[in-house]
Amino acid sequence: MDHVITVDDSISAHRALRLIRRGSTLLWKGDFQNAKQLLAALGRRIPAERGGSFQAQRRRAAERARVLNALVVPLVGHQVLLRRAPDVRTACDQAYGPAQGDRAVPLRELLGVIGAHQLRVRGVYVPALGARVHPHYGVFAPTRSEYADLVVGQPLPRVRTAFDIGTGTGLLTALLSKRGVPEVVATDNNPRAVECARENLARLGVRAGVVETDLFPAGRADLIVCNPPWIPAVPLTMLDHAVYDEDSRMLRAFLRTAGEHLEPGGEVWLILSDLAERFGLREQGELLEMVRAGGLRVAGRTDAVPRHGRARSGELTTLWRLTA
Ligand SMILES: C[S@@+](CC[C@H](N)C(=O)[O-])C[C@H]1O[C@@H](n2cnc3c(N)ncnc32)[C@H](O)[C@@H]1O
Repeated sequence: MDHVITVDDSISAHRALRLIRRGSTLLWKGDFQNAKQLLAALGRRIPAERGGSFQAQRRRAAERARVLNALVVPLVGHQVLLRRAPDVRTACDQAYGPAQGDRAVPLRELLGVIGAHQLRVRGVYVPALGARVHPHYGVFAPTRSEYADLVVGQPLPRVRTAFDIGTGTGLLTALLSKRGVPEVVATDNNPRAVECARENLARLGVRAGVVETDLFPAGRADLIVCNPPWIPAVPLTMLDHAVYDEDSRMLRAFLRTAGEHLEPGGEVWLILSDLAERFGLREQGELLEMVRAGGLRVAGRTDAVPRHGRARSGELTTLWRLTA
């Protein structure tokens, strides 16, 4: 780290921001709770603004993250030895793996690690499932539930085998199993998601295979369900990979090859928000062009309005029923 300055409770938010803007990293040695207050005060000085193009919003968010991440706290093993610091050992073990020496981490990141641990312990109640799923750090948390409702509300064709591509917590696999699909195979290319899905499915008493792979497992299915990352832009952090899909690479590859993994007469259920079109990141009609290019056709669509706190006004989530 360049220009590391040790700071404590005596620093004001004004001075901290000035030092950070000059390129310094602030290593906190004071009271942990006061560090949180300083971080909140810095955040208020650079509010997260909405408005403007998607690229402009992202640039502002990246600059805000750069400034806020300059306040770092020392991790000794996986302990924070500061006054009034919580015990973060389990949270850090889960997020970072076994402790390897001492280092400093952005306080903002550490609070995210703690929050993720709390969410994992508490779980997220999914009404469509009537149960909780427990997301791991770095795995997509189903805090928006409209897409689960779409999957539950869809008439189920005759299905013996289903694939759930990009399973995350395993939620859609659990829903399909609950609806009576005898055999479900879930995949994800994120090892954290694979471990998380296995754990959730075991806890829910669902017997399903979970495979770490790019897109499809071996064999064919009568139903292929996929809720892919839905924003076609470069992921900036590890946590972005469940949401951002650069140049729609995953979506394109999925639609190009899904037909080869379908049993005759089978269906693909693709769940996608229209945010990409709303942000101008995908042309209107481009999605249907990808569908056609993969030798698929639209057999039906059902729309839902997202209800979660960060939903954009007018945003629609659609379950596309596609056949070969
Ligand atoms: C929006 S999340 C959906 C998670 C889960 N299906 C759900 O509905 O809650 C997208 C998931 O796709 C996974 N993913 C992204 N690219 C993938 C790929 N090429 N192959 C398999 N999984 C992928 C991500 O790791 C992430 O878990």
